[in-house]
Amino acid sequence: MPRLQAQVGPPECVPRKGEALPAPTRRATIPGMSITSPTTDALEARCEAIVRDGRGDTAHDGAHVVRVVATAKRLAAIEGARMDVIVPAAWLHDCVTVPKDSRNRPLASRMAASRAAALLSSWGVDPAIVSQVEHAIEAHSFTAGIPPRTLEARVVQDADRLDALGAVGLSRCLMLAGAMGKPLTSPEDPFCESRPPDDTRSAVDHFYTKLLGLAGTMQTATGREEARRCTDFLRSFLQQLRSEL
Ligand SMILES: [Fe+2]
Ligand SMILES: [Fe+2]
Repeated sequence: MPRLQAQVGPPECVPRKGEALPAPTRRATIPGMSITSPTTDALEARCEAIVRDGRGDTAHDGAHVVRVVATAKRLAAIEGARMDVIVPAAWLHDCVTVPKDSRNRPLASRMAASRAAALLSSWGVDPAIVSQVEHAIEAHSFTAGIPPRTLEARVVQDADRLDALGAVGLSRCLMLAGAMGKPLTSPEDPFCESRPPDDTRSAVDHFYTKLLGLAGTMQTATGREEARRCTDFLRSFLQQLRSEL
């Protein structure tokens, strides 16, 4: 199946009627899945098709999801998390997105979790796995503030947050700010030295309201280590920007 390309579209993705079921169901070959459950490979193909058909904002497009899936699989392999939970949770974690400036934004991950649970249930996935996926998705969000209770939820949250750091995170931040009509910096006090940061004002403000603090919220040892390196990169970008300004 061809790999997913980046999808940029309108800023809201809502559940649709008549979800396609692109991959055939095979008998389960992994523990924890019922005899009629799709295998993890078949499930991944179905999830990928949902993401391919979906719409997200500039920072939550299909390319973001593909990166989060790859990072989540890598972290899961190191941390020993269940791949049959990680794969659907990572693919569907943003299957409902809400614009950043909407007052419903804190509900987005719960809405995505409900939609994912409905999809997985309709595909015959074991209810125990469905509920683990549902929790991992609802807990991934920064704004929802739901503490992750399982290793799989911690891995998905870390994978999603790592995509907000490093060169990718820096690019996403600037692209989203540009799409929302925000300037790079606030002209007076660009680096928030004598005022509280306010990310409605500029892209660089968002570093101080969120990005630089993400490393301290990481849930796994591997995620923490990668976040530390990627945050160092953001700090060096700010230093260079300061010297140029
Ligand atoms: Fe999200
Ligand atoms: Fe995400």
